Amino acid sequence: MEAIGAKQSHWDQVYTTKALEQSSWYQPRPSISLGFMQQLSVAKDAAIIDVGGGDSLLVDHLLDLDYQNISVLDISPKALEKAQTRLGTRAKAVKWILADAAEFDPTEQYDFWHDRAAFHFLTTEPDIQHYVQTAAQAIKPGGFLVMGTFSEQGPKKCSGLEIKQYSEQSLTETFAAQFKKRECYTIDHLTPSKSVQNFIFCVFQRNRA
Ligand SMILES: C[S@@+](CC[C@H](N)C(=O)[O-])C[C@H]1O[C@@H](n2cnc3c(N)ncnc32)[C@H](O)[C@@H]1O
Repeated sequence: MEAIGAKQSHWDQVYTTKALEQSSWYQPRPSISLGFMQQLSVAKDAAIIDVGGGDSLLVDHLLDLDYQNISVLDISPKALEKAQTRLGTRAKAVKWILADAAEFDPTEQYDFWHDRAAFHFLTTEPDIQHYVQTAAQAIKPGGFLVMGTFSEQGPKKCSGLEIKQYSEQSLTETFAAQFKKRECYTIDHLTPSKSVQNFIFCVFQRNRA
């Protein structure tokens, strides 16, 4: 397992040198993720976590929509600091978690777990298995996991790092022991530099006991 320090330095460097709007993953409105939440009727008081949320605008949109129990986790202190600065006093309404998703030890349970383009940075089996087990323990029975990764038609690297691509089948198999697949979509994301990145997004539901 790569030391958290090396991963953290990489991402801190990215967030120090790049504006949000220049990042390949930038979305002014995370419509896919918000669409899933609407479709799943996620309650305003649901415990929501955005894993690898970075300085994504998802949290801003969730606050605008009056969601009351939001956590944002990231490995990069700089990313969290940027999001907090942008939100100003609204940042106080959010729980900020500095952690490596491969070593995360949650202290609460969630109704809705969101991960867009963070899980695919875990490339070793122990890291992947730790993440899957953590999600299974931390998501309430019947709760939802929305997972978006690069697809097998997508890029092989992001931000200079190797990623693991997934298909609907491989992503479903990865979470199959404790989650039921509800639906999956492939989606083309247009980056600010106008290149296309193909994602697979799946909605999983945590098995009830
Ligand atoms: C490609 S960006 C995506 C950011 C955001 N989810 C979005 O969709 O805009 C990947 C994010 O994952 C974070 N990240 C990468 N590896 C991580 C890890 N092992 N644990 C937690 N966060 C991680 C990075 O710091 C970065 O914020």
